Amino acid sequence: MFEKVDALKEELNKATAITQEELEQYRMRFISRKSVIADLFNDFKNVPNDQKKGFGAALNDLKTLAQEKFEKLIDGLSSDNDENDENIDLTLPPLPGTLGSLHPLSKVRNRIIQIFERIGFNVSDGPEIEDDWHNFTALNFPPNHPAREMQDTFFIHKGKDRVDDDQDILLRTHTSNVQIRLMQHTKPPIRSIMPGRVFRNEAISARAHCIFHQVEGLYVDTNVSFKDLKDTLYHFAKEMFDKDLKIRFRPSYFPFTEPSAEIDISCLICKGDGCNICKYTGWVEIAGSGMVDPNVLENCGIDSEKYTGFAFGMGIERIAMLKYGTNDLRLFTENDVRFLSQFKGVI
Ligand code: DAH
Repeated sequence: MFEKVDALKEELNKATAITQEELEQYRMRFISRKSVIADLFNDFKNVPNDQKKGFGAALNDLKTLAQEKFEKLIDGLSSDNDENDENIDLTLPPLPGTLGSLHPLSKVRNRIIQIFERIGFNVSDGPEIEDDWHNFTALNFPPNHPAREMQDTFFIHKGKDRVDDDQDILLRTHTSNVQIRLMQHTKPPIRSIMPGRVFRNEAISARAHCIFHQVEGLYVDTNVSFKDLKDTLYHFAKEMFDKDLKIRFRPSYFPFTEPSAEIDISCLICKGDGCNICKYTGWVEIAGSGMVDPNVLENCGIDSEKYTGFAFGMGIERIAMLKYGTNDLRLFTENDVRFLSQFKGVI
């Protein structure tokens, strides 16, 4: 026992630590809770009673010695580092730091807001977790109507599972829910855009994602006409992309607008030659739109005899892909810095 203590004393006296690793090795061997010294303390109970006093003192000495030596080794290491510090040239210019930048989707959303704010639209917000009424029924999707299948929905609760309510609760499938909330709580004139995140139960591919972003637009007042809708969206497309862009309105169907139209612009990626983004047609859809169906106005307590309105909705990812020539939607959510860093300084 006593020889062991003497041997350890000798060993720790000789110990050196030039690197952090060596210091750590020393700590593990002599200081840590699993050190050889800790082992000896654990064995103390096996020491014959008549030797306990002498051995205890020797052990305590060893422990103090190990601790003192450890502090010396730490001092030695840090003063070595101090010496190294003298070799640092403080006059050298610093390495340039890497600055972050806004995500391309944030840039596009901000630009959309800016364009519409300049023509008198404000910005509204609404919930991502929504009830069936605001996401579907109020927008003129009758219960069990096949139009509901246009949007694959993530349900959170089926109505019948809940005692307090018989409505389904879901992740909103579009930002059109905000139109409804806005019209319920605001008297016309209403002129607002509503950016936000939406969710659909879709397989992820270069062209589709289960989480994406939309901007909804709504203008309700007396005498709002289809011409106002066309003027507004022409203005938007030209500001967003290119003054010489070609735009077309294509008749379409949405339950909440009548008449309805989809808005296409000439493909900016292939310039009309045909590519996977425009499905080789030379045109890409950027928004759905139409005159707010009188039923929808009435569902929200707005007099459809007195007021008319137009609405539109567009995908932010889609606009970003066209604006930046990106051909895979997934790049926006993978957050690979090599992709994102290309947007520094880009508007
Ligand atoms: N909510 C539609 C969708 O997600 C987009 C849309 C189309 C919104 C026409 C509108 C509209 O406000 O008028 O596919």
